[in-house]
Amino acid sequence: MPTFEVATPQRTYQAVVERGLVSRAASYLPEKARRLFVVTTEDVWKLHGQTLERGLAGRSFSVVFFRGGEGRKRLGEVERMAEEMVSLGADRSSLLLAFGGGVATDVGGFLAAVFMRGIPVIQIPTTLLAQVDAGVGGKTGVNLVAGKNLVGAFHQPLAALIDPEVLSTLPEREYRAGLYEVIKCGVIRSPELFRLMSEQVDAVLGHAPDAVDRMIAESVRIKAEVVSADEREGDLRRILNFGHTYGHALEAETGYARFLHGEAVAFGMRAATHLALLTGLLEAEDARRIIDTVDRYGPIPTLEGVSAEAIVNRLASDKKTLQGKVHFVLPERIGQVRIVSGVDQSAVVEAARATLG
Ligand SMILES: NC(=O)c1ccc[n+]([C@@H]2O[C@H](COP(=O)([O-])OP(=O)(O)OC[C@H]3O[C@@H](n4cnc5c(N)ncnc54)[C@H](O)[C@@H]3O)[C@@H](O)[C@H]2O)c1
Ligand SMILES: [Zn+2]
Repeated sequence: MPTFEVATPQRTYQAVVERGLVSRAASYLPEKARRLFVVTTEDVWKLHGQTLERGLAGRSFSVVFFRGGEGRKRLGEVERMAEEMVSLGADRSSLLLAFGGGVATDVGGFLAAVFMRGIPVIQIPTTLLAQVDAGVGGKTGVNLVAGKNLVGAFHQPLAALIDPEVLSTLPEREYRAGLYEVIKCGVIRSPELFRLMSEQVDAVLGHAPDAVDRMIAESVRIKAEVVSADEREGDLRRILNFGHTYGHALEAETGYARFLHGEAVAFGMRAATHLALLTGLLEAEDARRIIDTVDRYGPIPTLEGVSAEAIVNRLASDKKTLQGKVHFVLPERIGQVRIVSGVDQSAVVEAARATLG
């Protein structure tokens, strides 16, 4: 069973990747009797609630429902759920289980971070994106009208329980969106994972357990390693943003409505790859392999009506902009990236234009 240690100043914990893990969740609960609160969405509970219930092995728990959706990732929802927890008898010694996609794990994690100044949380992510990204690393938060994830906290879980089996019910489009984050992990740090994603497309798209489990485990290993070296987004953690600079700009430009996050990252990886090629950082053969592999998992929704200028104008207002400078994570070769700032503006526009086609 692949288990990866996440060592942060806040806490050291295990991220476990194993089929059927949800039905064995009890073995990861602390011995001490604590009241358990499962924060989840109705769809996930309907599909997998019975399995988790079995996994809790007779421990009593309460379910706090969250209606889900990026638009509900708001402070108001956190307040409502906190009130509900109090009315259900939650106190400082309670334990929260965040069970769902990245929206639920971000909101549930944040609720745990602030409820009575912080109670422990176990993350049980149920989308591919949440399994390889949101559920590991301790970033939690909610959106403001002004932007995504602008209020939040670092709150590391007691454990991250990643069960690839729950992905069998995931809508195809959500699954493919998560696959782009897996490709990202390969490009930034693992030629082996990249090879799996480029050579076993049919197995991956067909949910072949061996390929799926390997790609998730390798992605979680990378996330655990990066977060352990750098919990709070210094240079190393920023490599996880490969494809996200242009990607966030595309999401914002299309009002967060046309593209799923992972699909925007697919666009962003292609644009960053073009940029790396234009700036002479990356060889043409590697650029071709990255772009081909991203395309094999497509298509993403149409880019019609989006202009290169509009994308580039959005870049400057990205949250990850540091002191007014746009930083790009650019591949040098497959498995290695570099953080680059001060890139020539005309190349930035040209890369966007080439990607928009
Ligand atoms: N904290 C972090 O480090 C981090 C990293 C990446 C992304 N995120 C956040 O994650 C969010 C996106 O997460 P997401 O892509 O998982 O979206 P999501 O949470 O909205 O889930 C997508 C949909 O799938 C449903 N679903 C979840 N699991 C399912 C299953 N097993 N079967 C069927 N349906 C299922 C959800 O209820 C939802 O309707 C964003 O808000 C983003 O900011 C956070
Ligand atoms: Zn992402």
